[in-house]
Amino acid sequence: MAKSYYLTTPIYYVNSVPHVGHILTMLACDVTKRFRQMRGEQVKFLTGTDENGLKVYEAAQESGEEVDAFVSRISQAFRDSADQMGIDYDIFFRTTSQRHKEAVQALFARLEAAGTIYQGKYEGWYDVSAETFVKESEVIDGKSPDGNPVRWVSEDNYFFRLSAFGDQLLAHAEANPEFWQPAGRKAEVVSFIKQGLRDVCITRDNPGWGIPVPGNEGKVVYVWFDALINYLAASGWPEAGWDELWPADVHWMAKEIFTRFHATLWPAMLMAAGLPLPKAIIAHGWFTFKGGKMSKSVGNVLAPPELIEHFTEAGVDPLLARDVVRYSLMRTMPATEDKDYSLAEVERLYNSEMANELGNALNRTVSMAHKFMEGVVPAGDTDGEVLAGVQAQLDEYAAHFEANQPHAALEVAVEVVRRLNRYIAETTPWALHKQADPSLPLVMRTMFALLRACEATMRPFIPATSDAIAAQLGLPAAAWPNVFDLSKGVQLQQPIPMFPRLEITKPMNSEEPVVEAAPPKPAKKPAFEPPAEIGIEDVMKVQLKVGRILEAEAVEKSDKLVKLQVLVGTEQRQILAGIRKSYDPADLVGMQIVIVANLKPAKLMGLESQGMVLAADGPDGQAILLQPEKEAPEGTSVH
Ligand code: MSP
Repeated sequence: MAKSYYLTTPIYYVNSVPHVGHILTMLACDVTKRFRQMRGEQVKFLTGTDENGLKVYEAAQESGEEVDAFVSRISQAFRDSADQMGIDYDIFFRTTSQRHKEAVQALFARLEAAGTIYQGKYEGWYDVSAETFVKESEVIDGKSPDGNPVRWVSEDNYFFRLSAFGDQLLAHAEANPEFWQPAGRKAEVVSFIKQGLRDVCITRDNPGWGIPVPGNEGKVVYVWFDALINYLAASGWPEAGWDELWPADVHWMAKEIFTRFHATLWPAMLMAAGLPLPKAIIAHGWFTFKGGKMSKSVGNVLAPPELIEHFTEAGVDPLLARDVVRYSLMRTMPATEDKDYSLAEVERLYNSEMANELGNALNRTVSMAHKFMEGVVPAGDTDGEVLAGVQAQLDEYAAHFEANQPHAALEVAVEVVRRLNRYIAETTPWALHKQADPSLPLVMRTMFALLRACEATMRPFIPATSDAIAAQLGLPAAAWPNVFDLSKGVQLQQPIPMFPRLEITKPMNSEEPVVEAAPPKPAKKPAFEPPAEIGIEDVMKVQLKVGRILEAEAVEKSDKLVKLQVLVGTEQRQILAGIRKSYDPADLVGMQIVIVANLKPAKLMGLESQGMVLAADGPDGQAILLQPEKEAPEGTSVH
């Protein structure tokens, strides 16, 4: 059988429950798998749990539960969390499995026979929390460099001759530039190796938990030596058929386990065993919370279920709410530098990109096709130049995935959505319709082709949303690379509401900033008397701009307000205007108006208004909208 593309996350310690940081790495693999599958490739994705260490054993003992039951329960929590986030792993591997034990013992025996494992005495410090041996010189005030307490260890142990592999590792990385990624981390490993690698102690006294050293039951294999082998063990090694999976194409992880373990110890172990090396080892940064590390003990952990619930409570369908969390995680992915992840940021992304950009692009395209073409767009010509431009974006998107930069691919997907919104603004289909312009079907088809490109590029990140878009168009999922294919035309189905604008913000925990609700309005507005005279500096404070009304609808339960979507430059604003008595919303679509662009957003009837339209007070309280005397580009300043 042909070898599958094989990608892995770290296996997670089962000493405490999963949080969004663990999910992030799973998601980096998940979106890569989904993209490659969309291109027709065969992919296998491994994740799982690391269960043999002292840290896990002690956490289990503290819990009072049986150790087996404890690790199984928490391992299941990781699995549930992955399932809940729609992580499409193929293998969920546990290091307490028989297969793993056999592979670890086989590799240990092979290295011992090859002379790269030798016996000696270890005397020094051990950090249980990080499961690392710590040099005397690194211990400060009785703490490891990670700030954890250390214990003194004096044991007869086995050592791995890591010191012999520095030059080979550097030579391999030189010949394979994609081996260590990204560039900053690569520089870190190179300098680490150049300082000289030290042999590693790879066993501990057997506490009654762990994988015994072959032929020496009194010792267990050091948890890192054991855990790294999971990637190979999951391929079935040493049984036949392992090369259908191994070597891994990508090992993903965060930075703290890159240099010492995945980038040096692991490939050296494979070199010593004469086995092929992984193609790429990649580390991302950390999610932080208000600048600090997200950690269970600090109590600032954001858990996926609560985030999903937050959005379902706001009226988002549960599968789409999961997409909201997936989207926000990949959008804030700390690819190189650490980044804060907060509920406030998730909400901002939701409102500005999912509701305003993507939701709007879909709603506008679908509602115009309903209004102007009775929901049926037959196959035919499209705007070749526009699609060629988007094709270039699709190529760029694929290249980012090839370069293991899924967050950059998502950035391009967002640009594709923006391109659709811009195309609508440029072609003004409502005006074409009004003038019975024969180019309307071509424009509508081009809009749908672009919508298909949005559906395809968003699919790895937010699969349920892409499914909902395809369903709304009555089409199967867009297939790569012919994402524009509309040879069957479009026959619209019932609209599916997707991302209602979020009105609520409740704190997820005490650390989270609370967005204050607007204070209640006084019953009656005091009459406003403008001063008799103001200076030019006061006039200059007000920024007036030309905008175009893209959508208009009456606000429910209000006899005055109309909700407008107004295009100002490339930006879209929602503005509430008290013009219901003077205008039929349907007549407003396509009209150019003048707005106050720097007015602080305010809430009216629970809806946000991001500006103000200018209108003259006509007779009988009628509003008369101000318009430029002839068409001016949207966003033009007014003085
Ligand atoms: N068991 C080891 C890994 C062995 S792999 C052979 C381990 N486990 S862990 O449970 O601590 O998981 C660490 C990994 O979880 C990180 O490398 C990263 O993939 C993910 N993350 C955990 N917290 C994270 C953040 N706050 N931010 C980003 N990634 C996070 O180390």
